[in-house]
Amino acid sequence: MKKVLFVCLGNICRSPAAEGVMQYLLKRRKLENKIFCDSAGTCAYHVGEKADSRMRNSAGERGIALTSISRQFRAKDFEVFDYVVVMDQSNYNDVAALDPGKQYSDKIYHMIDFCRNHKVDKVPDPYYGGAKGFETVLDIVEDGCTGLIDKIEKEL
Ligand code: 4NP
Repeated sequence: MKKVLFVCLGNICRSPAAEGVMQYLLKRRKLENKIFCDSAGTCAYHVGEKADSRMRNSAGERGIALTSISRQFRAKDFEVFDYVVVMDQSNYNDVAALDPGKQYSDKIYHMIDFCRNHKVDKVPDPYYGGAKGFETVLDIVEDGCTGLIDKIEKEL
């Protein structure tokens, strides 16, 4: 079983969307018993909360249920997960700060590195923007999750 952890700031918008999209794609490809995924946030502001209702509604319109409850990323996650996939450079820096010895650097990836159709520099934070931001997140993470699954599938 390969294990993937998606990480953003609050764990209520981008990483829950990535987790839900990933689970949806894994099920469609019958890989849900070979690849496990979860999500976490670098901050603790929203711990215990469901995904943002705007993010849940946008995903729901695509037939994707977001069921995560926000939790904070912890150093122990480096031991548990094979891939720690962050949404932007700030997430990368916060996650890397919990690995000062750089023991786990090769497990930290940017979501955009797996994208094939989106030439963007990050998965943009939709929290303070309009409705379109949530659609953009879903489009980018679908592209990235597809590339990630293709990569992991070769390692199984
Ligand atoms: P996320 O979005 O990192 O994609 O979950 C955010 C959620 C909450 C906040 C910022 C970003 N916040 O400042 O509360």
